[in-house]
Amino acid sequence: MSAAPKVIVTRRLPASVEAALRERFDVELSRRDEPTNAEGLQRVLGQADGLLSTVTDRLTAEVLAAYPIRTRIIANFGVGYENIDLPAAQAHEIVVTNTPDVLTDCTADLAMTLILMTMRRAGEGERELRSGRWLGWRPTHLMGARVAGKVLGLVGMGRIARALARRAHHGFGMRVLCFDPSPPSPVELAAVGAEPRATLAALLAESDVVSLHCPSTPATRGMMNAARLAQMKPGAFLINTARGDVVVDDAVIAALKSGHLAGAGLDVFRGEPNIDRRYLGLENAVLLPHLGSATRETREAMGFRAIENLAAFFDGRTVPDRVV
Ligand code: DGY
Repeated sequence: MSAAPKVIVTRRLPASVEAALRERFDVELSRRDEPTNAEGLQRVLGQADGLLSTVTDRLTAEVLAAYPIRTRIIANFGVGYENIDLPAAQAHEIVVTNTPDVLTDCTADLAMTLILMTMRRAGEGERELRSGRWLGWRPTHLMGARVAGKVLGLVGMGRIARALARRAHHGFGMRVLCFDPSPPSPVELAAVGAEPRATLAALLAESDVVSLHCPSTPATRGMMNAARLAQMKPGAFLINTARGDVVVDDAVIAALKSGHLAGAGLDVFRGEPNIDRRYLGLENAVLLPHLGSATRETREAMGFRAIENLAAFFDGRTVPDRVV
């Protein structure tokens, strides 16, 4: 029998996932649980047959130019994979996979959490109570915005956006609009109660809440800039569970300060975890540390999905979630 493939894992994973990796592969698990720098990633690429990476591993063209490369598959733990330079991976004949589907519900739940927290000023309220500043119930205290009946505009209409549309429309009585250059079929849209708009400008102009669900690509980076934010209704809310670099922080911060944006709910940030510190002083921003998929069930499912991709590859079977 040939030796088990060598798999190196860059971050701590749920215990059940680490146990399954130990059973199936000659695995090197992460004990430090810190992001691996370029040099460390190049060491891994030279030693592992398979790399189980995460969004915090920047597998750039320079890193992938390591020599010699032993790695034949990068199984990324996450649905997003903008941390990996795909053309460079392809040039080195490395297969790249992701973990779609299993995080859809939990990420949509978190987007809904941010909508509710932002519109109902839940972060402000909790800070007030914990700091001992609460003066008691009164009719004008921390008045937020009613959710039912408001218009939610979804930018990007993939799996997570559709799951959010279902929750917002059928659960919270919102009217849901969407913009996607490649929209789902009318039947799929009708199932989740969403109406398409032909342009992003039209969507922004009609929405009380705009929620971002597009990947980070050259076309979407910096998309929500000052001009786009100006197209939003005065007093609208912005929600981002996609990627931090889709928004321009200067523009979002200026709009939150001026009140053009009544609030923003952000789970992802450019350069995270070193976020723009100006956000910290803004009461109308709800800030979460990239928790979209962070439930025990989902993180385990993501791990098992990555394992299945590795196992299929090394068994010579069709790799289920192959990106390139
Ligand atoms: C994802 O799956 O893309 C999450 O943002 C974590 O990486």
